[in-house]
Amino acid sequence: MNWGLVSSDTGDGFPSVGQRSKDSFARARLVFPDGTSRATIERDPAPLYVERGMGSYLFDVDGRRFLDLNCNFTTLIHGHAFAPVVEALTHQLQRGSCFANPTESEIELAELLCGRIPGIDRVRFVNTGTEAVLFAIKAARAFTGRSKIAKLEGSYHGAYDWVEVSQAAAPDNWGDPIAPKSTAFYRGMPTSVLDEVVVLRFNDVEGVRRLMSLHAHDLAAIILDPMPSRGGLVAPKPEFTAAVQEAGRINGIPVIADEVLNLRQSFQGASARYGLVPDLVTMGKIIGGGLPIGAIGGREDVMKVFDASAGRPLLPQGGTFSANPLSMTAGLAAMRHLNHAAFAHLEILGDIVRDGIGRAISIRDAPLCVTGAASLFRVHPRAQTPNDYREIYPTTAGATLMKQLSRFFAENGIILPLGAAASISTPMTRADAEFIVDVFSGFLDSHQDLLDAIEVYRKKTQ
Ligand SMILES: Cc1ncc(COP(=O)(O)O)c(C=O)c1O
Repeated sequence: MNWGLVSSDTGDGFPSVGQRSKDSFARARLVFPDGTSRATIERDPAPLYVERGMGSYLFDVDGRRFLDLNCNFTTLIHGHAFAPVVEALTHQLQRGSCFANPTESEIELAELLCGRIPGIDRVRFVNTGTEAVLFAIKAARAFTGRSKIAKLEGSYHGAYDWVEVSQAAAPDNWGDPIAPKSTAFYRGMPTSVLDEVVVLRFNDVEGVRRLMSLHAHDLAAIILDPMPSRGGLVAPKPEFTAAVQEAGRINGIPVIADEVLNLRQSFQGASARYGLVPDLVTMGKIIGGGLPIGAIGGREDVMKVFDASAGRPLLPQGGTFSANPLSMTAGLAAMRHLNHAAFAHLEILGDIVRDGIGRAISIRDAPLCVTGAASLFRVHPRAQTPNDYREIYPTTAGATLMKQLSRFFAENGIILPLGAAASISTPMTRADAEFIVDVFSGFLDSHQDLLDAIEVYRKKTQ
């Protein structure tokens, strides 16, 4: 295979970023605190500035093409500029972009979600996944009259303070494995917030039972992402899902499934795939067809807290752009095309990629593994499949290897997210999936020194 397909080495050792992106980043550094508008933007050493996206590809301002496995953090399940979305949006834009009145498009998208996702009787739309999560937590508080929440260590749920607790827990502050500490996410985070969050470990069946029972009288909800991307994209053990469900039922604690990212795991979402029956579900990303969106769905009695028909509801919820017709029509077009055949296609490609990567690892006996399901995958610098966030916390050698992997992919025309889920989109083909595996194999063959460093570290710390 001819490695270096898209390289345009500018002589500074970073061939994956072109000159125009570097020039744009220099300008951006004069107007943004770190040159970007999002902490999650990857820069190596500058971000790739995008000129346009089409199908499974994006094109940077230096005229190079990349197979996009980021898909705006897993949002674009149909890839870029999906024709039905473009058509629906063009039609809607000519009729206005937002109103203080409802539109029929919001009913159609709500009907689709209520009809498709088990346990969703009623829905409310907001503009981001963060907002969906914060309103779901407030809804659970209003429903139970309690304020604390339980969450899983290392899980990402957006920027609401309570769910940011222990999102970036580290070995020097995460505490005892059987009683994880609540750790601050940013300097100055109120200690009252830390006191109101019970931190659990993913796949820790006994811990979930014990801690949910211990805090039963204070907990408004437990929030969990069925397969947390930044927490490792680790599969939930069936006994763990069952323990969450059971502890919620016994102790009267509503279960919030955060499916902002993982709704893409099946036609009916992730909870259905893993046998969880949540009281509330948060959604976002794919349901907006590429436009900003969030949604809270759930059982009728819980969702009643939003009901303003008899005066002030238990939980007032507004939002200038909530249920705006652009997000509604784009979401509807995207979701209507996400039929059973589309999910079957994604599942097949996901299997080709995960199986192929797994085979490439085992043939070479490399100290790596791959996790994920459906259209998602993530590579880890450790030989054993991890169980939770603590097990995927990277060593220095591991972090270096993952950075090199992402750079190698970029040099060979593929955008591979670092430290998060990579996602496959419907326009991708079997040939694309095989290309991903080929590039991965090429990386293993050309980075034996880094793989050795991981193995040396593992032996030293055993
Ligand atoms: C599981 C989960 N919840 C919530 C969010 C926040 O969504 P948003 O970025 O739209 O605010 C994300 C975003 O990646 C997410 O993955």
